[in-house]
Amino acid sequence: MRIDLFELERSQSIWENTVEYNLTESGLHPFTMRELLDPHEIEALVDLPLGYGHTEGEPALREAIAARYPGAGADNVLVTTGSSEANMLAVMSLLDNGDEAIIITPNFMQLPGLAKALGAKVHQVPLRLSGSRWMLDLDEVARAITPNTRLISVCNPNNPTGGVLSADERSGLALLATRHGIALHADEIYRGAELAGPETETLFAAAPAGVITGGTAKAMALAGLRIGWIVSSKDIIEKAMQRQDYTTIGSNALGQRIALFALQPEKRARIVARNRRLLARNLDQLSRWVAVRSAIFSWVPPQAGAMAFLRYDLPVSSDDFCRRLRETQSVFAVAGSWFGMEGHLRLGIGGEPDHFRDALQRIDRFLQDEFATA
Ligand SMILES: Cc1ncc(COP(=O)(O)O)c(C=O)c1O
Repeated sequence: MRIDLFELERSQSIWENTVEYNLTESGLHPFTMRELLDPHEIEALVDLPLGYGHTEGEPALREAIAARYPGAGADNVLVTTGSSEANMLAVMSLLDNGDEAIIITPNFMQLPGLAKALGAKVHQVPLRLSGSRWMLDLDEVARAITPNTRLISVCNPNNPTGGVLSADERSGLALLATRHGIALHADEIYRGAELAGPETETLFAAAPAGVITGGTAKAMALAGLRIGWIVSSKDIIEKAMQRQDYTTIGSNALGQRIALFALQPEKRARIVARNRRLLARNLDQLSRWVAVRSAIFSWVPPQAGAMAFLRYDLPVSSDDFCRRLRETQSVFAVAGSWFGMEGHLRLGIGGEPDHFRDALQRIDRFLQDEFATA
């Protein structure tokens, strides 16, 4: 099978554990089991049988996930190995060779890469920066629809911009999908990592064929559990289950049980509150940093997700910027070109504030050394 190089993931896998400051992470600083779990929960894990269990996900976990999507029940949920598997199963369930998919970009490049690998034709419809937000042009989406379009896919809250669709954009997308009988996929893995205000509304019930993917990696700061999910209609869940029989059979029992603990409302509220504190502190540091470097950087601060997307004005490609920054300062950032957005950088803002401050100082040193500016 021919498949595009997934530059972001490949680069992270190669470099993220070799640097002093990894700013490529878009999720929050991970919890340890000791920080997250009570002694009796840890005790329960020690006695957990490590069999296959329920390959579609433990019933209690499916229920706890469904509770986060108004209108969904446990039957609308399939538990997966990370939300990457959820995305993969969604694409495998919705697209065939020769179909067309509309991908709202920028987006996690897994979606277009997989769609193309399956033989689908991909139309990208870009979010555009307008004033202080990233806007979706619904007319442009409508124009991209053909009789072969089977899927519209969006990442909301968005990676890498941290923007969130407005209520009108959400309902407009859902209307288009419904009117044309197209599945509407929303990767909502950053839902719950809002910097302020209410949680982003899910697109689950917005369209009859709404397909939501999510997981514990980002907003719940538990990437190592490798737990994700699809929430959709029962027939799409059934298709995804049949495809999961070929991918991983089911997700890991330990990760599922810890995810179940983490999703209990009290514990989840504690996770979200801690995350908001971290994000607020780092966003504040970054805002002050960008403000005094406005000759180089411009941005729209993120609404959700532990990342900031900066535009820069320097005579260097984003790939070279990130490579040199990594080689000379041991700071690893995401090149905009890995999202098809040259002239941009994505910086993770979900780490420990002192560590983040030090990383910004290293970037200053880099700007001074390479461009005589900081
Ligand atoms: C938008 C988006 N979806 C999915 C994933 C993959 O998540 P997981 O670690 O749950 O597989 C990522 C990881 O960066 C992401 O940014």
